[in-house]
Amino acid sequence: MSGRPAITDHPVHPIIAERWSARAIDPDRPVEREKVLSMLEAARWAPSCFGDQPWRYLVWDRFEDSEAWEQAAANLAEGNQAWARPSPILILAVAATTFSRNGKPNRWGQYDTGAATENLHLQGVELGLVVHQMGGFDPDAARSLFGIPDDFEPMAMIAVGYPGQVADLPEGYQDSESAPRQRKPLAELAFRGSWDTPLT
Ligand SMILES: Cc1cc2nc3c(=O)[nH]c(=O)nc-3n(C[C@H](O)[C@H](O)[C@H](O)COP(=O)(O)O)c2cc1C
Repeated sequence: MSGRPAITDHPVHPIIAERWSARAIDPDRPVEREKVLSMLEAARWAPSCFGDQPWRYLVWDRFEDSEAWEQAAANLAEGNQAWARPSPILILAVAATTFSRNGKPNRWGQYDTGAATENLHLQGVELGLVVHQMGGFDPDAARSLFGIPDDFEPMAMIAVGYPGQVADLPEGYQDSESAPRQRKPLAELAFRGSWDTPLT
C-alpha cells in the first residue's frame, strides 16, 4: 500500500511500518464483504485475558443499507464527519466490562479490544484498505441507538474504505496526509527494570 511508511529506528515487520491512519477514502468504491470478514476474523484471533474475547464490532455498509450507515455517521464528531463521510464502511469497536465466564469485572476488556482492533487494522492494510480509528463520536448516543448493553463500552468508530484522493479532502485535512510521522523516542517508552530508567 502506498502512503507514509514509518521510518523506524529498529527493524519491524513491513505491515507495521506501512500501517497509518489515512483520511482520504474513495467514496465510490465499496469494500467487498469478504475483506470486511477477513478484518473481523483477524480481530477474532487476538489474544485476550483468560481467552474471554471481550471485543464486539458493529458494522455498517453504506452500499448495503445507507440509512443505517447514516445513523452511524451522524454519531461521529463534526471534525471526523468532515473527512470520514466518504467511508463505505463504519465499524464500532465495543469492549466488555465484565468477563463472560463469570460476570466479574474485566479490567483488561479495553486492553484486549485495542489489541483485537490493531489486528483488524493490520489486516485491512494487508488488503489494500484505509483503516482509521476514531475516538471522536458520541458513545452515549451510540449505546442507545444501537442497543449496546450496559456491561459493554463503546470504544472507537473505525472508518474503512479504499484509498481516495487527498485533493478531495477538506483543506484543513490535506497537509496531514503527507506530514512526517512522529513518535516519542524509545527511551521515553521502555524502561530498564524501574520507572524512568531508559532501556536504550
Ligand atoms: C483510540 C483512537 C482514537 C482516535 N481518534 C481519532 C479521531 O477521533 N479522529 C482522527 O482523525 N483520528 C483519530 N485517531 C487516529 C490517531 O490520531 C492516529 O492513530 C495517530 O495520530 C497516529 O497516527 P498513525 O495511526 O497514522 O500512525 C485515533 C486513534 C485511536 C487508536
